[in-house]
Amino acid sequence: MVDKADFIWFDGELVPWDSANVHVLTHTLHYGLGAFEGIRCYQRADGRSAIFRLQDHIERLVHSCRIVTLTSRYSVAELVDACVETVRANKLESCYLRPLIFVGDGAMGLYAIDNPIRTAIITWKWGAYLGDEGLNNGIRAQVSSLQRAGVNSSFARGKLIGQYIISIMAKREAVRSGYHEAILLGPQGYVAEASGENIFMVKGNRVYTPSLSSPILAGITRDTSLTLLREMGFEVMEHSFTRDDMYIADEIFFTGTAAEVTPVREIDTRVIGEGRPGPVTKALQERYFDVVRGSAEDHPEWLTFVDGM
Ligand SMILES: Cc1ncc(COP(=O)(O)O)c(C=O)c1O
Repeated sequence: MVDKADFIWFDGELVPWDSANVHVLTHTLHYGLGAFEGIRCYQRADGRSAIFRLQDHIERLVHSCRIVTLTSRYSVAELVDACVETVRANKLESCYLRPLIFVGDGAMGLYAIDNPIRTAIITWKWGAYLGDEGLNNGIRAQVSSLQRAGVNSSFARGKLIGQYIISIMAKREAVRSGYHEAILLGPQGYVAEASGENIFMVKGNRVYTPSLSSPILAGITRDTSLTLLREMGFEVMEHSFTRDDMYIADEIFFTGTAAEVTPVREIDTRVIGEGRPGPVTKALQERYFDVVRGSAEDHPEWLTFVDGM
Protein backbone atom coordinates (compact mmCIF):
# COMPACT_ATOMS: atom_id res chain seq x y z
CA MET A 1 0.00 0.00 0.00
CA VAL A 2 1.13 3.52 -0.75
CA ASP A 3 1.96 5.51 2.33
CA LYS A 4 -0.63 8.32 2.31
CA ALA A 5 0.58 11.91 2.45
CA ASP A 6 -1.61 14.82 3.60
CA PHE A 7 -2.22 16.57 0.28
CA ILE A 8 -2.41 15.97 -3.44
CA TRP A 9 -2.03 18.85 -5.88
CA PHE A 10 -5.05 18.54 -8.14
CA ASP A 11 -5.83 20.97 -10.97
CA GLY A 12 -4.13 23.89 -9.33
CA GLU A 13 -4.85 23.40 -5.65
CA LEU A 14 -3.78 21.25 -2.75
CA VAL A 15 -6.62 18.98 -1.68
CA PRO A 16 -6.71 16.40 1.13
CA TRP A 17 -5.35 13.01 -0.02
CA ASP A 18 -8.74 11.26 0.20
CA SER A 19 -10.54 13.98 -1.78
CA ALA A 20 -8.48 13.61 -4.97
CA ASN A 21 -11.01 11.39 -6.73
CA VAL A 22 -12.31 11.08 -10.31
CA HIS A 23 -15.49 9.85 -11.98
CA VAL A 24 -15.54 6.35 -13.52
CA LEU A 25 -16.16 7.93 -16.91
CA THR A 26 -12.71 9.49 -16.79
CA HIS A 27 -11.59 9.04 -20.40
CA THR A 28 -8.07 7.87 -19.55
CA LEU A 29 -9.47 5.02 -17.42
CA HIS A 30 -11.11 3.66 -20.57
CA TYR A 31 -8.55 4.33 -23.28
CA GLY A 32 -5.23 5.01 -21.55
CA LEU A 33 -4.37 8.40 -23.05
CA GLY A 34 -2.24 10.43 -20.67
CA ALA A 35 1.29 11.09 -19.50
CA PHE A 36 3.11 10.83 -16.22
CA GLU A 37 6.45 11.23 -14.52
CA GLY A 38 8.34 9.60 -11.70
CA ILE A 39 10.67 11.88 -9.77
CA ARG A 40 12.56 11.56 -6.50
CA CYS A 41 13.20 14.08 -3.76
CA TYR A 42 16.08 13.18 -1.45
CA GLN A 43 17.16 14.49 1.93
CA ARG A 44 20.83 15.26 1.46
CA ALA A 45 23.75 14.86 3.85
CA ASP A 46 23.36 18.47 5.02
CA GLY A 47 19.70 17.85 5.95
CA ARG A 48 18.22 19.89 3.10
CA SER A 49 15.84 18.23 0.65
CA ALA A 50 16.32 18.50 -3.09
CA ILE A 51 14.22 17.22 -5.98
CA PHE A 52 16.51 15.55 -8.51
CA ARG A 53 16.40 16.84 -12.11
CA LEU A 54 12.92 18.26 -11.61
CA GLN A 55 13.09 20.61 -14.58
CA ASP A 56 14.14 17.74 -16.91
CA HIS A 57 11.33 15.50 -15.69
CA ILE A 58 8.71 18.21 -16.14
CA GLU A 59 10.02 19.06 -19.60
CA ARG A 60 9.70 15.35 -20.50
CA LEU A 61 6.15 15.37 -19.12
CA VAL A 62 5.17 18.33 -21.29
CA HIS A 63 6.88 16.72 -24.29
CA SER A 64 5.00 13.46 -23.63
CA CYS A 65 1.76 15.47 -23.73
CA ARG A 66 2.76 17.19 -26.94
CA ILE A 67 3.54 13.83 -28.59
CA VAL A 68 -0.04 12.66 -27.99
CA THR A 69 -1.66 16.07 -28.69
CA LEU A 70 -2.64 16.78 -25.10
CA THR A 71 -2.16 20.39 -24.12
CA SER A 72 -0.95 20.79 -20.57
CA ARG A 73 -2.99 23.44 -18.76
CA TYR A 74 0.16 24.43 -16.87
CA SER A 75 3.55 25.61 -18.06
CA VAL A 76 6.80 23.86 -17.15
CA ALA A 77 7.52 26.61 -14.62
CA GLU A 78 4.08 26.26 -13.02
CA LEU A 79 4.43 22.48 -12.77
CA VAL A 80 7.92 22.79 -11.29
CA ASP A 81 6.57 25.18 -8.63
CA ALA A 82 3.61 22.87 -7.98
CA CYS A 83 5.94 19.92 -7.34
CA VAL A 84 7.96 21.93 -4.84
CA GLU A 85 4.75 23.18 -3.18
CA THR A 86 3.39 19.63 -2.88
CA VAL A 87 6.55 18.25 -1.26
CA ARG A 88 6.67 21.20 1.13
CA ALA A 89 2.98 20.95 2.08
CA ASN A 90 3.42 17.26 2.86
CA LYS A 91 6.63 17.88 4.83
CA LEU A 92 8.26 14.95 3.07
CA GLU A 93 12.03 15.17 3.40
CA SER A 94 12.48 12.26 0.97
CA CYS A 95 9.74 11.06 -1.35
CA TYR A 96 8.68 9.97 -4.81
CA LEU A 97 6.65 12.42 -6.93
CA ARG A 98 4.12 11.31 -9.51
CA PRO A 99 2.87 14.12 -11.76
CA LEU A 100 0.00 12.79 -13.89
CA ILE A 101 -1.81 14.45 -16.80
CA PHE A 102 -4.94 12.68 -17.99
CA VAL A 103 -8.21 13.17 -19.86
CA GLY A 104 -11.21 13.70 -17.60
CA ASP A 105 -14.84 12.73 -18.04
CA GLY A 106 -17.24 14.34 -20.49
CA ALA A 107 -17.73 12.74 -23.87
CA MET A 108 -17.02 9.07 -24.50
CA GLY A 109 -15.53 7.47 -27.61
CA LEU A 110 -12.00 7.85 -28.85
CA TYR A 111 -12.18 11.38 -30.24
CA ALA A 112 -13.48 13.24 -27.13
CA ILE A 113 -11.29 16.22 -27.95
CA ASP A 114 -13.05 18.64 -25.56
CA ASN A 115 -12.85 16.64 -22.35
CA PRO A 116 -10.99 18.47 -19.58
CA ILE A 117 -7.26 17.82 -19.23
CA ARG A 118 -6.63 17.11 -15.58
CA THR A 119 -3.37 17.40 -13.68
CA ALA A 120 -2.38 15.81 -10.40
CA ILE A 121 0.84 15.65 -8.43
CA ILE A 122 0.97 12.87 -5.87
CA THR A 123 3.84 12.32 -3.41
CA TRP A 124 4.60 9.39 -1.17
CA LYS A 125 7.48 7.76 0.63
CA TRP A 126 9.05 5.06 -1.52
CA GLY A 127 12.16 3.04 -0.72
CA ALA A 128 14.30 1.05 -3.17
CA TYR A 129 12.01 0.00 -6.06
CA LEU A 130 13.75 -3.34 -6.55
CA GLY A 131 14.43 -3.74 -2.82
CA ASP A 132 17.44 -2.93 -0.63
CA GLU A 133 18.75 -6.46 -1.12
CA GLY A 134 18.62 -5.94 -4.91
CA LEU A 135 20.35 -2.58 -4.65
CA ASN A 136 23.15 -4.07 -2.53
CA ASN A 137 23.61 -7.53 -4.00
CA GLY A 138 21.97 -7.42 -7.42
CA ILE A 139 18.76 -8.78 -8.87
CA ARG A 140 17.80 -11.64 -11.19
CA ALA A 141 16.21 -10.72 -14.54
CA GLN A 142 14.52 -12.58 -17.35
CA VAL A 143 14.41 -11.73 -21.03
CA SER A 144 10.72 -11.32 -21.65
CA SER A 145 8.60 -13.17 -24.18
CA LEU A 146 7.13 -9.72 -24.90
CA GLN A 147 8.89 -7.08 -26.99
CA ARG A 148 9.13 -3.33 -26.92
CA ALA A 149 7.07 -2.07 -29.86
CA GLY A 150 8.98 -0.49 -32.72
CA VAL A 151 9.35 3.25 -33.03
CA ASN A 152 6.42 3.45 -35.45
CA SER A 153 4.08 1.41 -33.27
CA SER A 154 4.67 3.27 -30.03
CA PHE A 155 5.91 6.65 -28.87
CA ALA A 156 9.29 5.84 -27.39
CA ARG A 157 9.98 9.46 -26.38
CA GLY A 158 6.83 9.68 -24.30
CA LYS A 159 6.20 8.40 -20.79
CA LEU A 160 2.62 7.57 -21.66
CA ILE A 161 0.07 5.77 -19.54
CA GLY A 162 -1.32 3.21 -22.03
CA GLN A 163 2.14 2.14 -23.14
CA TYR A 164 2.76 0.53 -19.77
CA ILE A 165 0.56 -2.51 -20.37
CA ILE A 166 3.42 -4.41 -22.03
CA SER A 167 5.76 -3.43 -19.18
CA ILE A 168 3.25 -4.65 -16.59
CA MET A 169 2.75 -7.96 -18.42
CA ALA A 170 6.51 -8.45 -18.76
CA LYS A 171 7.00 -7.68 -15.07
CA ARG A 172 4.24 -10.09 -14.03
CA GLU A 173 5.64 -12.82 -16.25
CA ALA A 174 9.14 -12.33 -14.79
CA VAL A 175 8.03 -12.26 -11.15
CA ARG A 176 5.78 -15.30 -11.64
CA SER A 177 8.78 -17.12 -13.11
CA GLY A 178 10.79 -16.35 -9.98
CA TYR A 179 12.76 -13.35 -11.29
CA HIS A 180 12.73 -9.77 -10.06
CA GLU A 181 12.57 -7.91 -13.35
CA ALA A 182 12.02 -8.32 -17.10
CA ILE A 183 14.30 -7.22 -19.94
CA LEU A 184 12.55 -6.46 -23.23
CA LEU A 185 14.15 -6.79 -26.64
CA GLY A 186 13.20 -4.49 -29.50
CA PRO A 187 11.68 -5.59 -32.83
CA GLN A 188 15.15 -6.11 -34.36
CA GLY A 189 16.04 -8.50 -31.56
CA TYR A 190 18.49 -6.22 -29.77
CA VAL A 191 18.21 -5.47 -26.07
CA ALA A 192 15.98 -2.44 -25.45
CA GLU A 193 15.31 -1.82 -21.74
CA ALA A 194 13.76 -3.33 -18.63
CA SER A 195 10.08 -2.97 -17.73
CA GLY A 196 10.73 0.35 -15.98
CA GLU A 197 14.47 0.91 -16.27
CA ASN A 198 17.19 1.47 -18.84
CA ILE A 199 19.97 -1.07 -19.12
CA PHE A 200 23.77 -0.84 -19.18
CA MET A 201 26.36 -3.53 -19.89
CA VAL A 202 30.06 -3.51 -18.91
CA LYS A 203 32.50 -5.49 -21.04
CA GLY A 204 36.22 -5.05 -20.59
CA ASN A 205 36.96 -1.35 -20.26
CA ARG A 206 33.81 -0.26 -22.02
CA VAL A 207 30.27 0.47 -20.87
CA TYR A 208 27.42 0.05 -23.37
CA THR A 209 23.81 1.17 -23.34
CA PRO A 210 21.30 1.01 -26.24
CA SER A 211 21.18 4.26 -28.19
CA LEU A 212 18.15 6.51 -28.35
CA SER A 213 17.42 5.24 -31.86
CA SER A 214 16.14 2.04 -30.22
CA PRO A 215 12.63 1.91 -28.73
CA ILE A 216 13.55 2.98 -25.20
CA LEU A 217 12.52 5.75 -22.89
CA ALA A 218 15.14 8.49 -22.83
CA GLY A 219 15.70 7.89 -19.14
CA ILE A 220 16.88 10.78 -17.04
CA THR A 221 18.87 8.40 -14.83
CA ARG A 222 20.35 6.95 -18.03
CA ASP A 223 21.48 10.44 -18.97
CA THR A 224 22.79 11.10 -15.43
CA SER A 225 24.69 7.80 -15.52
CA LEU A 226 26.21 8.53 -18.94
CA THR A 227 27.40 11.90 -17.66
CA LEU A 228 28.80 10.55 -14.39
CA LEU A 229 30.50 7.54 -16.01
CA ARG A 230 32.20 9.77 -18.59
CA GLU A 231 33.28 12.17 -15.84
CA MET A 232 34.71 9.18 -13.97
CA GLY A 233 36.82 8.34 -17.02
CA PHE A 234 34.94 5.35 -18.40
CA GLU A 235 34.46 4.89 -22.12
CA VAL A 236 30.71 4.70 -22.66
CA MET A 237 29.13 3.76 -25.97
CA GLU A 238 25.49 4.13 -26.97
CA HIS A 239 25.32 0.98 -29.03
CA SER A 240 23.07 -2.05 -29.61
CA PHE A 241 23.82 -5.37 -27.96
CA THR A 242 22.24 -8.79 -27.97
CA ARG A 243 20.75 -11.15 -25.42
CA ASP A 244 23.88 -13.35 -25.54
CA ASP A 245 26.17 -10.31 -25.18
CA MET A 246 24.51 -9.90 -21.79
CA TYR A 247 25.14 -13.52 -20.83
CA ILE A 248 28.90 -13.04 -21.23
CA ALA A 249 29.09 -9.47 -19.91
CA ASP A 250 31.26 -8.55 -16.94
CA GLU A 251 28.49 -6.48 -15.38
CA ILE A 252 24.90 -5.47 -16.09
CA PHE A 253 22.96 -2.79 -14.27
CA PHE A 254 19.64 -0.99 -14.55
CA THR A 255 19.05 2.73 -14.15
CA GLY A 256 15.82 4.53 -13.32
CA THR A 257 14.42 7.11 -10.99
CA ALA A 258 12.64 4.42 -8.98
CA ALA A 259 15.32 1.69 -9.31
CA GLU A 260 18.24 4.17 -9.09
CA VAL A 261 21.35 2.15 -10.06
CA THR A 262 20.49 -1.53 -9.51
CA PRO A 263 23.01 -4.29 -10.28
CA VAL A 264 21.83 -7.39 -12.18
CA ARG A 265 23.51 -10.60 -11.00
CA GLU A 266 21.72 -13.17 -13.15
CA ILE A 267 19.86 -13.23 -16.48
CA ASP A 268 17.92 -16.28 -17.73
CA THR A 269 19.76 -18.61 -15.29
CA ARG A 270 23.19 -17.31 -16.42
CA VAL A 271 25.29 -15.77 -13.67
CA ILE A 272 26.60 -12.37 -14.78
CA GLY A 273 30.28 -11.78 -14.07
CA GLU A 274 31.06 -12.87 -10.53
CA GLY A 275 27.38 -13.00 -9.60
CA ARG A 276 27.63 -9.89 -7.48
CA PRO A 277 27.80 -6.13 -8.18
CA GLY A 278 30.98 -5.43 -10.16
CA PRO A 279 33.42 -2.54 -9.71
CA VAL A 280 31.94 -0.25 -12.38
CA THR A 281 28.39 -0.70 -11.07
CA LYS A 282 29.52 -0.11 -7.51
CA ALA A 283 31.54 2.98 -8.44
CA LEU A 284 28.59 4.46 -10.36
CA GLN A 285 26.14 3.60 -7.58
CA GLU A 286 28.34 5.31 -5.01
CA ARG A 287 28.78 8.41 -7.16
CA TYR A 288 25.06 8.51 -8.03
CA PHE A 289 23.99 8.41 -4.39
CA ASP A 290 26.57 11.04 -3.51
CA VAL A 291 25.14 13.33 -6.20
CA VAL A 292 21.44 12.75 -5.43
CA ARG A 293 21.54 12.55 -1.64
CA GLY A 294 25.11 12.86 -0.43
CA SER A 295 27.35 15.86 -0.28
CA ALA A 296 28.54 16.13 -3.92
CA GLU A 297 28.14 19.73 -5.05
CA ASP A 298 29.43 19.52 -8.59
CA HIS A 299 26.03 19.24 -10.31
CA PRO A 300 23.96 22.05 -8.74
CA GLU A 301 21.95 22.32 -11.99
CA TRP A 302 20.32 18.96 -11.15
CA LEU A 303 19.02 19.97 -7.73
CA THR A 304 15.87 21.91 -6.85
CA PHE A 305 15.93 22.56 -3.13
CA VAL A 306 12.74 22.45 -1.10
CA ASP A 307 13.30 24.72 1.85
CA GLY A 308 10.98 25.66 4.65
CA MET A 309 9.64 22.27 5.68
C1 LIG B 1 10.09 2.01 -19.55
C2 LIG B 1 11.04 2.82 -18.75
N1 LIG B 1 12.33 2.89 -19.14
C3 LIG B 1 13.23 3.61 -18.45
C4 LIG B 1 12.88 4.30 -17.31
C5 LIG B 1 13.89 5.11 -16.57
O1 LIG B 1 13.65 6.48 -16.75
P1 LIG B 1 14.10 7.57 -15.69
O2 LIG B 1 15.54 7.34 -15.45
O3 LIG B 1 13.83 8.86 -16.37
O4 LIG B 1 13.29 7.36 -14.48
C6 LIG B 1 11.55 4.27 -16.87
C7 LIG B 1 11.13 5.01 -15.69
O5 LIG B 1 10.61 6.08 -15.80
C8 LIG B 1 10.62 3.52 -17.61
O6 LIG B 1 9.34 3.46 -17.22
